[in-house]
Amino acid sequence: MSSIQIIVGSMLGGTEYVAEACEETLNELDHNVDIHLKPDLSCIISNTFSSNNEQKKSSDSQIKPLWIICTSTHGAGDYPDNIKEFVSDLGNCDQDLSTVSFLTIGIGDSSYDTFCKAAVDLSKLLKSKGCIEIVPFKTFDMSEDIDPEDLAQQWIRTNKDLLSI
Ligand SMILES: Cc1cc2nc3c(=O)[nH]c(=O)nc-3n(C[C@H](O)[C@H](O)[C@H](O)COP(=O)(O)O)c2cc1C
Repeated sequence: MSSIQIIVGSMLGGTEYVAEACEETLNELDHNVDIHLKPDLSCIISNTFSSNNEQKKSSDSQIKPLWIICTSTHGAGDYPDNIKEFVSDLGNCDQDLSTVSFLTIGIGDSSYDTFCKAAVDLSKLLKSKGCIEIVPFKTFDMSEDIDPEDLAQQWIRTNKDLLSI
């Protein structure tokens, strides 16, 4: 079982549905999941490391913290408004995040030159903070993928062994 924080960047709400579909599947797979529709770094860090501490008290084995980034891109390759503060706080964060694994789901539209740029940039930022990407970056193209919620759930199930880190 992993302790999973789903961090959502969405302007118009579509990505929230994808994130909630992922949450449903992860719960079915018996993971401990928190979803953040208004991501706050200090709350996410607190959830990430407190679940680890509680687990340490009751057992020798550790729950591995996992962050799932699920974000659309807006403007010309910009972050959605609701995730901008999280990104800024992360950029300024000095905490050791090297025990945090992550994976990224980018939602975008390939008619833009800046296809899924917010997700790409956030992935790079997490890597620069020492976080480990455990599943290759996944994108959904809203000009082609007609049911991204269903596709995201299939993708989670396909990678379920990698999530139980
Ligand atoms: C004004 C506007 C700008 C957009 N800019 C981009 C972009 O730069 N790159 C991209 O991949 N998609 C872009 N998109 C497509 C959105 O990412 C896509 O519609 C997505 O599904 C929106 O998700 P949301 O409902 O969670 O905000 C843009 C959409 C709008 C309406």
